[in-house]
Amino acid sequence: MPRIEAETATGTQTFEAQDGRKLVLAIEDAGIDILHRCGGNAKCTTCRVEVLAGNPGEMQELERNRLAMEVGLTENVRLSCQVRVHDDLKVRVINQSSTRGLPPGPRPVEE
Ligand code: FES
Repeated sequence: MPRIEAETATGTQTFEAQDGRKLVLAIEDAGIDILHRCGGNAKCTTCRVEVLAGNPGEMQELERNRLAMEVGLTENVRLSCQVRVHDDLKVRVINQSSTRGLPPGPRPVEE
């Protein structure tokens, strides 16, 4: 199983994720309060992470188009609701419920 190392506001957590799982769900199920305000539909970008190491897979059109609407993002920023985990990854979680003072949003569907 791929291994995820996630940097958060309070430290770094390492956990395993099922191959092919949505990254946002793997992060949330590890107990990290990542935001996903649009429910995983590539609309809000609150689930964004910085990929520090590993291969997050090719970006699909939906994610590419949404990220193109943002300014000042580095190239390693990805929407965790659009990333399927197939490889070991090291990521930085950018938006957390506890640091932004917002409810996380509807849980993205598993499929
Ligand atoms: S873009 Fe909204 S949850 Fe990913």
